[in-house]
Amino acid sequence: MRRALALAECGRGRTSPNPLVGCVIVSGDRLVGEGWHERAGGEHAEVVALRAAGEAARGSTVVVTLEPCNHYGRTPPCTDALLAAGVARVVAAVEDPHPAAAGGAERLRAAGVEVDIGLRRDEAARQNEVFLHGEAAGRPFVVAKAAVSLDGRIAAAEGSSQWLTGPDARAEAHRLRAAVDAVVVGSGTVLADDPQLTVRLPGYNGRQPLRVVLDRRGRVPASGLRICDDAAETLRWDQGLDTLVKELWARGVRSAMVEGGAQVLAAFLQADLVDKLIVHVAPLLLGPDAKPLLDGPWPASLSGARRWRLDSVEHVGADAVLTLYPPGE
Ligand SMILES: NC(=O)c1ccc[n+]([C@@H]2O[C@H](COP(=O)([O-])OP(=O)(O)OC[C@H]3O[C@@H](n4cnc5c(N)ncnc54)[C@H](OP(=O)(O)O)[C@@H]3O)[C@@H](O)[C@H]2O)c1
Repeated sequence: MRRALALAECGRGRTSPNPLVGCVIVSGDRLVGEGWHERAGGEHAEVVALRAAGEAARGSTVVVTLEPCNHYGRTPPCTDALLAAGVARVVAAVEDPHPAAAGGAERLRAAGVEVDIGLRRDEAARQNEVFLHGEAAGRPFVVAKAAVSLDGRIAAAEGSSQWLTGPDARAEAHRLRAAVDAVVVGSGTVLADDPQLTVRLPGYNGRQPLRVVLDRRGRVPASGLRICDDAAETLRWDQGLDTLVKELWARGVRSAMVEGGAQVLAAFLQADLVDKLIVHVAPLLLGPDAKPLLDGPWPASLSGARRWRLDSVEHVGADAVLTLYPPGE
């Protein structure tokens, strides 16, 4: 399953709105086939692995990161392919919650295949958090990302915020962008920094996320800024966050990264719309006149403050990257 999870990762940034899926096929003590879901509309991981295994799939054990699907989507059901290949056992990490695709385990069991679900469930659920969240909540998975100084400031007193963090953390920020369907910023950030909001990594030729600019008063000009270039599509939004979330979902956006600034980040947090928080902490101090992480109304008491769950702390170059989830998740 560790290998299947690593294979699934190869599809990151290309499978939306589908999940990431990896699969290995084992016969006796031999690995006879492996595959992953490369992109939406492409073949499912099980089908790729079965083809690689050929006749060796008969009587084998199929290890897959998500319960095999049981429906005709853009490709035929994986359960059909598994049964036709004559596999003996399927080990899956997590159930498929998609109402149309679910039922794969039942169908396989009814046909005499041994099925176990739950191996490395937590890792698999984390890897597919965007897909699983979308199926459960019916709205995009929202990541909020910010770069802060040690004293929690996002821009210096004179307004400059480029660059707070070092090159390694900035490259990491581009990798995060490459993995989401949309990037969201407020008009204040666009007017202050003129960001391009694209993925710029050496050799990157994948798709660019949709750029979303929140601008109810229409302060952002229609031309002359980097978000107006042809490098990616830009959506200018002049309504509230609830309608934005619905619009993004309707456009097929399954994950969005809010990149600030202080007012927009506070608004998303206050509306309880942040599913994951990624904070890049740079080892410098900007002082009390610098711009704080959040701007807007906020509970005044410690008892009213929510305590986020710290998932990981990593060294990235000279900076620290904190990944957090909402309380209770
Ligand atoms: N270090 C970092 O990670 C980082 C990242 C981004 C930005 N920054 C810095 O942050 C600063 C900009 O932050 P900011 O707080 O001034 O601006 P901001 O949050 O980027 O944008 C604020 C504007 O967004 C619009 N908006 C639209 N919908 C909104 C909603 N539901 N809630 C709140 N605002 C909404 C508002 O204008 P309307 O009322 O017209 O809609 C508001 O004036 C810059 O200095 C930039 O360099 C730092």
